[in-house]
Parts: sequence; C-alpha cells; structure tokens
Amino acid sequence: MRQILSQQQLDEGVTRLAQFIDCSKSAPPLTIIGVLNGSIVLVADLIRRLEGPLRIAMVWASSYRGDAITAGNLELRMDVLPDLKDQDVLVVDDIFDTGHTLQTIIKEISTYNPIRIRTLVLLKKHGKSQVSIAPDFIGFEIPDEFVVGYGLDFNGLWRHLPYLAALDPEDRVEDKVAIVPAVRRVENDLSISEPEE
Ligand code: IMP
Ligand code: MG
Repeated sequence: MRQILSQQQLDEGVTRLAQFIDCSKSAPPLTIIGVLNGSIVLVADLIRRLEGPLRIAMVWASSYRGDAITAGNLELRMDVLPDLKDQDVLVVDDIFDTGHTLQTIIKEISTYNPIRIRTLVLLKKHGKSQVSIAPDFIGFEIPDEFVVGYGLDFNGLWRHLPYLAALDPEDRVEDKVAIVPAVRRVENDLSISEPEE
C-alpha cells in the first residue's frame, strides 16, 4: 500500500472544499446528502467547517460487489431521505470514477423537486468519466488507481485509515488475511476446545 495523500493534505483539501460552499450563517439552509458508506469521514469533517444553517441526510449506494474493483450494477437506497422539496441540496460523495453513481443519484434526487442540486467529491479519477455531468466541487484529482482510506474501502476494509493509499494488486488478495475463528479462553474450563487446524 502506498500513501498518496497524507492526513494533512486531506485536511487542507477539506478546508478548501468548505470555503467553496456558500454556507455562512446568513445563507439559506443547505441540505447535505452524504452517499453511504464512502462519504462518512468526509461528511463528518466537512460539516464541522461549515457555519450553517444546514441539515444532513444520507443515501446508500453500492456499485462494487465484494472484492471486485470494476463498477457493477448500481444499487441505490433513498428511503430515509427527508422532504427535499424546495431545498438547496449538496450531494457529497467520496470519489467520482466513471460518474455513474453521482449521475444516477442526481437524477433520482431531482424527482423530489429541490430548488438546486450541487455535487461535491473528495476525489476525481483523471480521465475516467463516462457521463456528461461533472462534480461542482472536487477536492483532488488523482490518477486512475484503486484507493482506500478516509472512508474509501476495498471489500469493506480500510475505511478507517486517516490517509489515502493506493492499493497494489498484491494487497487485494483477500486470503492473505487468514481468518481464524475466535476462541473464548476460560482458565480451567476444559469444555472450550481449540479451533480445528
Ligand atoms: P462511479 O460510479 O464509477 O463514479 O463510482 C463511484 C463509486 O465507486 C464511489 O462512490 C466509490 O464507492 C466507488 N469507487 C470508485 N473508485 C474507487 C476506489 O478507487 N476506491 C474505493 N472505492 C471506489
Ligand atoms: Mg461510494
């Protein structure tokens, strides 16, 4: 794994993004819609740099299946959204790769008749877009590499890293991490056996 953006660079990037958004005390209320799960860290850091007034909502999207690293069919869950009619919406996602996720989310959200929909991503992969839309705000443009950390995962792992790292092919081999059944060891309790080899 190679670090490509340090904790400090990410911090500065998020501060820059927060300055782009007009979210001062006198601004009209903003509804920030984070895309689960990848945007959790970004949303948490971003909103603490905004003065408000703002609301936070979430949608869930998944385009990767298991350990696959190419985009598959998009699955979208929007059933926990508040009423968006006449709201000023900012959709926040971790990364813009082909752009299909964000494009589909915008299309779905527009059916709720918000007054405006803007989009913000921490990362955009260079030269990968397959759609006509582009994010309104981009933290960093990165080369076409598979990255993890700061909310982004590979097969559900690595979201907690405070920095961003590129995953090399050998890092993607799941069975390198041997999963050993947990054993509850209780002293003098011989009824609890060792895991089988
Ligand atoms: P898109 O629809 O191709 O733009 O893909 C966007 C979604 O795919 C993002 O919200 C991420 O969840 C996921 N994704 C794309 N590239 C990466 C990556 O390099 N690492 C982790 N997740 C990624
Ligand atoms: Mg995502």
